[in-house]
Amino acid sequence: MRSQIPEVTLHDGLKIPSIGLGTAKLKGSDGVTAITSAIDNGYRLIDSAYNYENEGTVGEAVRKTTVPREALRITSKLPGRYHSYSDAVTTIQESLYRANLDYYDLYIIHWPNPIQGKYIEAWQALIDAKKWGLIRSIGVSNFLPEHLERLKNETGVLPTINQIELHPFFNQEEQREWHEKHGVITESWSPLSRGSDVFENETIQAIANKYNKTIPQVILRWHYQLGAVSIPKSSSPSRQLENISIFDFALDYEDMDSLAQLTRPDGRMNDQNPAVYEEF
Ligand SMILES: NC(=O)c1ccc[n+]([C@@H]2O[C@H](COP(=O)([O-])OP(=O)(O)OC[C@H]3O[C@@H](n4cnc5c(N)ncnc54)[C@H](OP(=O)(O)O)[C@@H]3O)[C@@H](O)[C@H]2O)c1
Repeated sequence: MRSQIPEVTLHDGLKIPSIGLGTAKLKGSDGVTAITSAIDNGYRLIDSAYNYENEGTVGEAVRKTTVPREALRITSKLPGRYHSYSDAVTTIQESLYRANLDYYDLYIIHWPNPIQGKYIEAWQALIDAKKWGLIRSIGVSNFLPEHLERLKNETGVLPTINQIELHPFFNQEEQREWHEKHGVITESWSPLSRGSDVFENETIQAIANKYNKTIPQVILRWHYQLGAVSIPKSSSPSRQLENISIFDFALDYEDMDSLAQLTRPDGRMNDQNPAVYEEF
């Protein structure tokens, strides 16, 4: 059974589904099988990254599926070691060669790496690559409001999307408010906080029982109602389907409030605060 996923419109006009597939660790032929099954199940937005070393896997799944290329939204990300302008341009081209695609729908800077301090150069490369037709929409990941302000002030171009760590234990309320005010779509990475203890949480279990849904479904519905695009990763066709079967119920105000109470100031899974954490 295929599920129809509602879309959101980015500020440059590109429409993307409100749930996509995370692909960290989905590689090789098993990865192709998992991603192809997700597309067959109704997924149209596929996340990937140069550093996941699976752009080739994603490209192969795009070629294998019968869904037309233009119906898909394929994402990749620029790694921190290639933030200088010329390296960024070459890396975008290399990402396309690896995937054997003519264009990415979304290409995003993976981490700001503020100590390295080259993300403005990287952003300029993405702006130009969009003009050259290599990318349809440009975004960032893990950027704090202070980093986004610099992009705006120094290039005049704000990202369409910011992919950030977001799950019930770290709900990023202030960051989401900044995005909303500036027309940037929030995309949630590790939306299920990789399983961990959310799957044992009594509050979420009680809400799941109330709607006759599973804990992952309640969490993914919560992301949707927050207005965030989520990208749960699953290698299993049945769990992929479960994760997008969330459009036949709605959490009420009380449930949304109970879920909001679960957030913690130190709720990041691995203490990756983009103000100081850098990834290359
Ligand atoms: N921008 C960044 O810096 C950044 C950082 C981290 C992640 N990401 C992106 O975000 C994506 C998602 O994050 P993530 O992979 O870290 O974690 P996640 O999506 O929160 O959780 C994935 C884990 O949950 C399991 N799972 C998924 N659906 C399930 C279900 N319905 N029932 C039970 N278990 C389920 C998966 O196992 P199975 O596969 O066995 O189902 C996997 O172990 C990544 O794949 C990547 O694309 C981006």
